[in-house]
Amino acid sequence: MEAPVVEIRHLKQHIGETVTLRGWVRNARTSKTRFIDLRDGSGFVQCVVGAAEADPASYELAGKLTQECAITITGRVQQHPRTGEPELLGLSLTLVGDSVDYPITPKEHGTAFLMENRHIWLRSKRQWAILRIRHTLAKAIRDFFDEDGFTLLDAPILTPSACEGTSNLFGTQYFDEGMAFLSQSGQLYQEPGLAAFGKTYCFGPTFRAEKSKTRRHLTEFWMCEPEMAFAHLEDVMTLGERLTKFMIQRVLEGRREELAILERDLGPLETTLNGAFDRMTYSEAVDRLKGLGSDIVWGEDFGNDDETILMNSTDRPLWVHRFPKAFKAFYMEPDPDDARLALGADLLAPEGYGEVIGGGERASSLQYLLDQIAKEGLDQADYEWYLDVRRYGSVPHAGFGLGLERAVAWICKLPHVRETAPYPRMLGTLRP
Ligand code: 4AD
Ligand code: MG
Repeated sequence: MEAPVVEIRHLKQHIGETVTLRGWVRNARTSKTRFIDLRDGSGFVQCVVGAAEADPASYELAGKLTQECAITITGRVQQHPRTGEPELLGLSLTLVGDSVDYPITPKEHGTAFLMENRHIWLRSKRQWAILRIRHTLAKAIRDFFDEDGFTLLDAPILTPSACEGTSNLFGTQYFDEGMAFLSQSGQLYQEPGLAAFGKTYCFGPTFRAEKSKTRRHLTEFWMCEPEMAFAHLEDVMTLGERLTKFMIQRVLEGRREELAILERDLGPLETTLNGAFDRMTYSEAVDRLKGLGSDIVWGEDFGNDDETILMNSTDRPLWVHRFPKAFKAFYMEPDPDDARLALGADLLAPEGYGEVIGGGERASSLQYLLDQIAKEGLDQADYEWYLDVRRYGSVPHAGFGLGLERAVAWICKLPHVRETAPYPRMLGTLRP
């Protein structure tokens, strides 16, 4: 039977018409009438195949469908009498690809099994919802910077030197040039771009060879990194807050169905949009943490537990700024009011999610940077090009990095970051 092919997401516009759907069978229940849960990547719909309407061969086929077989089905679009949602009254059916013993059944599977089968786990409703939200967040990031006048300056992935410390680099031999490292951050490549474009950003994969086995750490993750000339610490917090709200707004506007599949309570996301984010200095945060029972001492970096403790007691994002220089990167501008501190700022997400943005003001003095490079034991020759930013028209400048997967985990309220990437890479996970 000839009928126009439509995507499930458009079915509402075809009530009363005869159309063809193409997709995969999530589940098929057979009694006298056959019920097929169909999905085509754009949405989900129930198809009803009864002996009275369908041709006999199609009716018989509908009784034999297996989980995840591929079909085309032609039928009449009608509204479900109770829910008002569109459903399809099937008239004819074709099997396109059969599916025998699909490994992921409706019963509970362990995480290890699902991770090994990530390539098919992607088909589940929950993974579909998460990755559609990831898609929307990535699009929102690009739109935000584009609308704000930032120029995209792609950073290389193969790099000769470290940005975020030398202890967590993936290295590979690069012809006769010596070792190349997978980039930890595009930041160092944004800074020279400022004198050419004023405001730049990059958005791409970054790598950390960290042996951290936490629910927040991947070895490969996507980071967007804006950088602004003539900018200070304050500008980092203002821009990061605007970006975060823009991203959440986009998801609330366009991904209601996905949020509902994830049973995400929208209250905390809406709270994030109302009013300014909280702010406190690192020193204030340490006092707060001690009051909440942490054994942190001034001068130590927050552990994951500290971030969780801090953020369990609030329902809005929190900027922590002015950290001890000792555990921050070599490129940070020192605080003019307290030489022990660096002008860094991290955004911690509520609901226990912890750091989603890290950034700050960059050192603009050549001599200060030379001292820092020497102090960290870095090879100055590797950074000569970066030091040129301070030699030819140095200006105050600032920026940050936002980790896409951490943002997805928070916005979807996931227990672990592994579900936020189509094919996550983390300690112990390289396949598929
Ligand atoms: O705080 P980080 O290490 O900062 C930088 O790399 C700066 N150079 C960025 C800049 O200023 N342009 O990382 C920034 C963000 C973190 O806040 C977090 O969201 C994410 O990147 N991130 C990770 N996400 C997943 N797994 C990891 N191992 C991550 N490490 C950092
Ligand atoms: Mg950080």
